[in-house]
Amino acid sequence: MEPNPQPTAPRKIILDCDPGHDDAVALLLAHGSPTIDLLAVTTVVGNQTLAKVTRNALAVGTIAGITGVPFAAGCDRPLVRSIETAPDIHGESGMDGPALPESTIELDPRHAVDLIIDTVMAHEPGTVTLVPTAGLTNIAMAARKEPRIVERVKEVVLMGGGYHVGNWSAVAEFNIIIDPEAAHIVFNEKWPVVMVGLDLTHQALATTDVVERIDAIGTGPARFVRELMDFFAATYKDAQGFDFPPVHDPCAVAYVIDPSIVTTRKVPVNIELQGALTLGMTVADFRAPAPADCTTSVAVDLDHARFWDLVTDALVRIGDPHDGGSQSTADLATAGGK
Ligand code: BDR
Ligand code: CA
Repeated sequence: MEPNPQPTAPRKIILDCDPGHDDAVALLLAHGSPTIDLLAVTTVVGNQTLAKVTRNALAVGTIAGITGVPFAAGCDRPLVRSIETAPDIHGESGMDGPALPESTIELDPRHAVDLIIDTVMAHEPGTVTLVPTAGLTNIAMAARKEPRIVERVKEVVLMGGGYHVGNWSAVAEFNIIIDPEAAHIVFNEKWPVVMVGLDLTHQALATTDVVERIDAIGTGPARFVRELMDFFAATYKDAQGFDFPPVHDPCAVAYVIDPSIVTTRKVPVNIELQGALTLGMTVADFRAPAPADCTTSVAVDLDHARFWDLVTDALVRIGDPHDGGSQSTADLATAGGK
């Protein structure tokens, strides 16, 4: 297992998300990183309904002061299954905890699937990375609607799955089990897929010292993250017995920013669609050697300190887009008429 080399040029990404406490941190990390060129933000049903996660994404974009990046709403249900959301972890709004501002960002009129296709087709082949941090419905639909995106996309770096642990069943992770058919499509296309799964993200704990560092930044976006982490810590303790919450989604963005903080291993991965006990399992075949045509890798080890350095650096870089430091998210919510 080798540490991955660092990229030399900014990486163009599309973030497909369902905010979501950890999706919010992923979006802030992408926006605040100088080596990420955020081309689009798309939303999909997941942690909550499409309407709720879209509202949350726009609120995070507003808090972060994001301008000039299209946000579009996508699929409001999985390909085959009924909708399953995660209120036990993310609350009824999908991002309970902090007060949310009214959005100052206008939603792009396109469907997220079309925005993904348009964006990939408008850029040079091999330059756009898809970063899904939610169920894979939009990504699967985009691959089916415009198959040419598969060879144009540089890689798909997704948060989902886990090769030895589940969180929604004994063996399945939420983003995969909510739309396993979509995951099956994405993992079986010929684009490179990096699975940043629970094996890795359970190392990305928001420990006390991490939260104190974020707090010390003292800006509105940093306070927002602090408030998100307070809620997330409580639900992860109650629902899943964690001492500190695993902040899954920014791990996928961090890998794109600096792959050297994550070790990966090339192994075939496929999605279980039949099992009575194993539906949605990401079945990884660790037998060596991996076949020469293997297009899937799994994330194995995270450099915890450097990961949180990336997140805190991004928050420092974002600063306080609204007033130079004195306005809380509650003030913004008031300003937005809530
Ligand atoms: C994943 O599920 C969602 O609840 C989180 O936002 C993350 O994407 C973790 O299993
Ligand atoms: Ca998510």
